[in-house]
Amino acid sequence: MPQLLSLSRAARLADVSRGELQKRIRKERVETFEGDISLETLLALYPHIDMDEDPVLERVQRIKAEAHPKRNYSDGWMPDPEILMTRLHEFQHTLVHTKAALNSSEALLDEAVADLKSALEKPEQKLRQAVKKCIEKLDGAMGRLDKASDAKARLFAKDALLKIVTASIRLLPSGHEYFIQGNDSILEAGLKAGLYLDYGCTSGNCGACKCKVVSGAVRKLRQHDFVLSAKEQEEGYILACSNTAISDLVIEATEASLSEQLPHQMIRATVKKVVQEGPELALIHVQTPRTHSLRFKAGQRVKVTTEDGASTELYIASCPCDGRNLQFLVFSGIGCPIEKHAFSGELAKQTIVIEGPEGDFLLREDSTRPVVFVAKGGGLAPVKSLTEQAITIDDAEDITLILIGGTPPESSLENLCRSWKDALDNFDYRSAADDISAMDLLAQLTMAMEENPKTQVYLAGPEAWVNELMKTAQGQGVNTERWCMESVGC
Ligand code: FES
Repeated sequence: MPQLLSLSRAARLADVSRGELQKRIRKERVETFEGDISLETLLALYPHIDMDEDPVLERVQRIKAEAHPKRNYSDGWMPDPEILMTRLHEFQHTLVHTKAALNSSEALLDEAVADLKSALEKPEQKLRQAVKKCIEKLDGAMGRLDKASDAKARLFAKDALLKIVTASIRLLPSGHEYFIQGNDSILEAGLKAGLYLDYGCTSGNCGACKCKVVSGAVRKLRQHDFVLSAKEQEEGYILACSNTAISDLVIEATEASLSEQLPHQMIRATVKKVVQEGPELALIHVQTPRTHSLRFKAGQRVKVTTEDGASTELYIASCPCDGRNLQFLVFSGIGCPIEKHAFSGELAKQTIVIEGPEGDFLLREDSTRPVVFVAKGGGLAPVKSLTEQAITIDDAEDITLILIGGTPPESSLENLCRSWKDALDNFDYRSAADDISAMDLLAQLTMAMEENPKTQVYLAGPEAWVNELMKTAQGQGVNTERWCMESVGC
């Protein structure tokens, strides 16, 4: 049985995104084993895997760190010494078994060669020829084995090192897989990976994050026993918010599906800062209390109420993988009720009330097909959130982001889009003129759809613009079955 790797782990070893690896597997039509691939296949696809690449500073993680400046992935990356020691002990066992097996094979081969050589002493001509052939064959196989196992062994060692630093978690029944770093809880790591795991208090009090360990070892981060009955604990139930993984885990956990609504939440949060991204755009950074992260899906909106009672619905412009640090965008001149608050600076440090989430302009997150995001004006907020979610989930083959009118030059948003494009092989970013005609934009979209008819298109912007684009597409007979649209006012 070949040594198998999950796609997530294989992508990490090859230093490519999971979407890119999936694309390659489909293109090359290589064999997979219920979604996993063998070490040999990975080496055949990527013969030049850089074995010396520091596995901790992986490319995708660097991109995510850039995408979410609030989070520093280099801090708290390593698990604590106790967990490291446990994983090192496990690794030691694996090494002992592997070395023992290797020693036996070598001894066996040496013995076989010696036996065959002694057979050569015998007189029969035919036997001599057969034995000679056999020796040549064995010698050749051993020579090839040396070379072949070199790359495999190094890949095996790289994988082993990754396993010491991070453990993987596979969720049942969805099959979603993610990695856990440092002393993150199983829940925290899942949310950072862009998954919609069920949770409530995040502190071991409500029981909403209850899940069942199917295999692997966990360690408690905090005491919480009274939430779970003795019977549940015996059956392997744990709280995802209060445990971390010691080894690779398989767990049964509840995830919110696309059709499910998340609970309505009302949270008092603090405006940390308001950044002017240009004369017409303000980026609002909001932080919720430690115990009240906002649960939302990329592309959704919430009602925001300021201290003086001004209230409006705003799309969340950040990734749901960080429910504490939220971002909102406010454009000037489009009649947003809190425009004055955002541009005068009076919003900074205010306590605001957030209610929601609402909306179904959502990423089809189980899809691996290419995605094209197009935003104009206020559509930038939901599209930014969707893009960050798509990058975090790392499932789509290709991601294209088209911003009509672009972003303000030199702004952090422009830098963010450019850094995605520079760092991700499967990401393309372009801006289009603010007055691009519906026909010209349609030409760009149909080109993407011709390249891959399964391309999913997400459009968000002012209602009149969305309607005109749809009308033009239908007039041209373009199949809009895979289009998701959102009319964005404020
Ligand atoms: S989220 Fe409340 S107990 Fe885990």
